[in-house]
Amino acid sequence: MAIKKSFFISFEGVEGSGKSTQAKLLYKYIKDNISKKVILTREPGGTKFSERIRNILLDNNFKKNPLTEFFLLMAARNDHVVNKINYYLKKDFIIVCDRFYYSTLAYQHYLEGMNKKFIYETQKKIFKNIYPDITFLIDLNEKESKIRIKKRIKKINRFDKLSNYHFNKIRNGFLKIAKIYKKKVILINGSKSLNEIKNEVIKKTLKVLNVRH
Ligand code: TYD
Repeated sequence: MAIKKSFFISFEGVEGSGKSTQAKLLYKYIKDNISKKVILTREPGGTKFSERIRNILLDNNFKKNPLTEFFLLMAARNDHVVNKINYYLKKDFIIVCDRFYYSTLAYQHYLEGMNKKFIYETQKKIFKNIYPDITFLIDLNEKESKIRIKKRIKKINRFDKLSNYHFNKIRNGFLKIAKIYKKKVILINGSKSLNEIKNEVIKKTLKVLNVRH
């Protein structure tokens, strides 16, 4: 079951889509079943420094305009990439990351209207030419998302309180991304059961990793 190189897997989706749960489940599956080192990380965050930035980003007490938010996100990403992702990629790990570049496109471009080229160029400076090898994009409609967010125990942040109009801008943005990057993005119907999605994610992962179950 040996696999040669490092591998970068990201999970994307709207709030309440279940992507964080699925990222954790995949991480656990790889850890328990594949002879390959794996880490689970997230954005914004993933390092001590970037988790601090995350707290500022999600703090409702600070009003931030889209550009301020963008630079905070990129500062967090840069620290995460330089001090964690690059390190583990070099060590041939599998990286499972909860949110990454496509979230920036969905939120900062499709929602906030920031220029796509500007986002891409900034991102390129951080990450050179390395992007996730594969991305699971978990799609969910606004009705189901709202129901799930209401059930959450964790503090609701400003992103969780989006209007339906804004929610759909992000969701449709993600769906466009799935079409544009169809070779790398696997679109998953988030209204399926947790187990169904888990099995689908594992099956696809094993296939791209070229590992037999
Ligand atoms: P988080 O609580 O992680 O959302 P979720 O629980 O749905 O995973 O909050 C992170 C928020 O940051 C999320 O609403 C999306 C936003 N975000 C951006 O706007 N741009 C980005 O590039 C990233 C990585 C996240």
